[in-house]
Amino acid sequence: MRKRVAILISGGGSNMLALLNDMATEDHPAEPVLVLSNNPDSGGLARAAARGVATAVVDHRNFPKNRANFEAALHTELSRAKPDIICLAGFMRILSPEFVRNWAGKILNIHPSILPLFPGLHTHERALAAGMAVHGCTVHLVDETLDGGPILGQSTMDIDPDDTPETLAARLLKREHMLYPQVLREFAAGLSGTAFPTK
Ligand code: GAR
Repeated sequence: MRKRVAILISGGGSNMLALLNDMATEDHPAEPVLVLSNNPDSGGLARAAARGVATAVVDHRNFPKNRANFEAALHTELSRAKPDIICLAGFMRILSPEFVRNWAGKILNIHPSILPLFPGLHTHERALAAGMAVHGCTVHLVDETLDGGPILGQSTMDIDPDDTPETLAARLLKREHMLYPQVLREFAAGLSGTAFPTK
């Protein structure tokens, strides 16, 4: 049985697309069952729908100052899709410890830095400001801390003297598109059905 994958996005969804493209191959151990965004204007929603993947929106702006209710709605949508794995792919909302506990061991995230360096935002600017000679991206299991959790894969690259945050971001994104599908494939293949109770 292929593992069921839900992908959470907030924006253009280029990482989502890389995951969908890889899962479209015949021997893949996982299949996409839902692409969900907190932003109705996410370009990624149309791109997923064009590939025949179910989409949903839980707009965080409908839950002003109430993360618990936003996450309850998110949880309801996800529960309907019964995912074995949830991939955060440019999903720009912080998930509470309670939410993460409900899906413990099932949530993967891609982050544009060599974690544990530079958790949070503006990673390219911060890598340059720190004088780093290398930069990279990380796929990790999500735990209850910001951009924390066991690291499943990393890809690194040299920083050139004339790099800007923009050139770094563009070059790194290409690496993200290779790393995330590779890690998801390995993770899905290694999963045991009984080790991941569904809630
Ligand atoms: C990617 O660079 C991803 O690593 C980053 O957002 C971008 C999303 O691009 N994620 C984070 O910063 C999460 N904290 P995409 O929508 O084209 O995949």
